[in-house]
Amino acid sequence: MSEKFTGSFTQQEALSEAAIEAAMNVMRHGRLHRYNVIDGELGEAALLEQEFAAQIGAKYCLAVASGGYAMATALRAVGVKHGDKVLTNAFTLAPVPGSIAAVGASPVFVDVTEELTIDLEDLASKADQASVLMLSHMRGHLCDMDRLMQICDGAGITVIEDCAHTMGAAWNGIASGRMGAVGCYSCQTYKHVNSGEGGLLITDDAEIAARAIMLSGSYMLYERHLAAPAPEVFERVKFETPNISGRMDNLRAAILRPQLRDLGRQVGRWNERYQKIEAGLRDTPGLTVVQRPEAEIYVGSSIQFLLLDWSPESVAEVIARCAKRGVELKWFGGAEPAGFTSRYDSWRYAEPQNLPQSDRILAAIVDMRVPLTFSLEDCAQIARIIRSEVGAVYQAG
Ligand SMILES: Cc1ncc(COP(=O)(O)O)c(C=O)c1O
Repeated sequence: MSEKFTGSFTQQEALSEAAIEAAMNVMRHGRLHRYNVIDGELGEAALLEQEFAAQIGAKYCLAVASGGYAMATALRAVGVKHGDKVLTNAFTLAPVPGSIAAVGASPVFVDVTEELTIDLEDLASKADQASVLMLSHMRGHLCDMDRLMQICDGAGITVIEDCAHTMGAAWNGIASGRMGAVGCYSCQTYKHVNSGEGGLLITDDAEIAARAIMLSGSYMLYERHLAAPAPEVFERVKFETPNISGRMDNLRAAILRPQLRDLGRQVGRWNERYQKIEAGLRDTPGLTVVQRPEAEIYVGSSIQFLLLDWSPESVAEVIARCAKRGVELKWFGGAEPAGFTSRYDSWRYAEPQNLPQSDRILAAIVDMRVPLTFSLEDCAQIARIIRSEVGAVYQAG
């Protein structure tokens, strides 16, 4: 009888006792709103911002309601207006073009490479079409950030980094989120820290930070922030910046602070699991493992492989056969959006765009979550199952 995996691909770990205790403290005093502090008290949200800014080496940090909210706020704060165009990845998840649509702008999609990163040639060829790039480090793959920044700096393009999948990652020793003008992170359950929902925005630019804080719904209480620019910067922007409430509350912030302190250890655990699966998949005929560059420190919270130039029916068969053996794979090439996967042509509020290179690669991308509740033995077993099912379909074809 062939082996079957019985674990869950969506079960994250329980929160630590430190996070539970911190949440209980907030619930015991009841001051959940971030600006509801007593004399001399530093609220959890303000402390979270101060600590994340220090951890990542940014001057300013803002905690908000979600990663998607952080991205739309970043776009507004750098000056994107209704009707503008914004460059972004053709391979990403729906909240990324969604953040562009949220500010009334329209996405210009840039091709994806076989390394699953933004195609820098295509980016350079489209650099005259927009003055902002919403760069999604989709599924944790970092492109050559030195070259990307060279292209964007040369063309006067402001870069916003979507680090939903790269909290804890780095390129050439620089933390993901620190190379563009703004870095946006998600603290939603399937990301690298878990407060259910939540987002973080970092920047070194005082005006962007002040606008983002005003946008998030600070009223005129911005002096209660601990990772914010000086009051005179707010004086310059406060009358022109609308309040579009999307604050983080003290309860979520309390849960996040201990998790951020533990991030480095968790990254190590994710990567052990990722590397176990990757080793099990290497040299499977018909299957391409995604090569990771030397300069990249990644966080293996999900893994992708390519079934390049396979027929859609054969890819679907691999997915169905793995599902029967308990292994949940997602496909980015499906004609219809399903679950969290969709293609750039599923986002029909955007102008139709023709990207044959991306079509070929998207049709080949198979994706799998790697929750920390998997043991290393689970990972080895999952790789064996994928390997045997890919092999069976490949040989039959
Ligand atoms: C690539 C990417 N960017 C941004 C987001 C948005 O994060 P949130 O769910 O916190 O709004 C997600 C969430 O799934 C994502 O996968």
